[in-house]
Amino acid sequence: MTYEFDHTLDHRHNHSYRWNMPGFPEDVIGMGTADLDYECAPCLREALRTVAEENTYNYRQKTQAYRDAVKDFYHRFYDLDIDPAKVWNVPSTVGAVRLALNCFSAPGDYVIMQTPHFGPLLHCVEGAGRHIVLNEMILKDGHYELDLADFENKIKEYHVTAYLMVNPQNPTGRVFTEAELNALTEICVRNNVTIISDEVHSLIVYGDHKHLPILSLPAARPVSVQIVSLSKGFNIMSLPHALVLIDNPEMIGNWVREYGTYSFGYATNSFALAAVTSILAGEADEWLRECTAYLAENQKMLMEYVQEKKLPLQVITPEASFMAWIDCRASGLNTDDLDGEFMEKAHISLNDGKDHGEAGRGFIRLNYAVTHAVMREALDRIGAMFQ
Ligand SMILES: Cc1ncc(COP(=O)(O)O)c(C=O)c1O
Repeated sequence: MTYEFDHTLDHRHNHSYRWNMPGFPEDVIGMGTADLDYECAPCLREALRTVAEENTYNYRQKTQAYRDAVKDFYHRFYDLDIDPAKVWNVPSTVGAVRLALNCFSAPGDYVIMQTPHFGPLLHCVEGAGRHIVLNEMILKDGHYELDLADFENKIKEYHVTAYLMVNPQNPTGRVFTEAELNALTEICVRNNVTIISDEVHSLIVYGDHKHLPILSLPAARPVSVQIVSLSKGFNIMSLPHALVLIDNPEMIGNWVREYGTYSFGYATNSFALAAVTSILAGEADEWLRECTAYLAENQKMLMEYVQEKKLPLQVITPEASFMAWIDCRASGLNTDDLDGEFMEKAHISLNDGKDHGEAGRGFIRLNYAVTHAVMREALDRIGAMFQ
């Protein structure tokens, strides 16, 4: 490997949400919040140094290099030939979702989303004055499937106007197939539902799974907004720069009216701009490839350990990103307080499934974007819980 993933900052002694919260024991292993422990691609240091050396943070235009890099990025990662004039930046993915809700639904409307779900998106919907309707995914033989009948029934029953799709899905790690995306789209088109597609987890995808952006489906193109961010793939959570792509001219009109009131395009963070320009241009692609391979090894270690030690846990194989969704319902642990159990018995901080909705009760979400050494230690501690 060219890049370093085995040695990282000591996150117990920086201001990491994952590793360093009040009350955490000194030997805690942080496996919650969805960021990566690794040092970023070197191109970021170079890009940011140039900005810091100027020490001037005026309003900055998007350069031609940025626009070219945006176009190139959509081509490389999504096989989409896009017009960069149809792409807008918002400082966070969740913020972009909130803005899209403002544009493509009305206060009091119902918005549908699959569950188990990423909790902050539910707050985002409710904070926008919309109601949420949950479409529960079905766990069958260790694999999550969509319940399309329930999806359409609920859309009709609640007169849903927007579908907040999360693909790849958090926390189940599912990458929706073309057939699934087509089925979801057909239902949305039939019922006049706008698709707001949060694709923040689309950059790290394993094996034969292939992420298809919503705008790659001809039927979805006129009714969809695609939101991506480089944050989860390239570990730049605090240099946020989500990208919003819309194709339908009428939808663009609505979006531009709302977007303009926030000044995000004008007052774009110059560090984020420099960082993403280098990434969009492809300077960190090899880093991402190596990072994905490293994460795949951690995933394999987890699956093998649970199997070999016959732990009473069922790991749902993640198809993307770096969070393992683990069924603990047969473990004998207190499913009302799984995060407390893992903290108390293994000094591991992680996310309790019930924070991902009732459908997540009895599950944990384990972030495995740690070094191999930390992964081994975490697995031994989990194994010891069941001895
Ligand atoms: C589905 C999903 N959307 C959005 C976010 C947050 O992204 P951002 O920090 O860019 O708002 C996360 C973070 O884990 C997520 O899982």
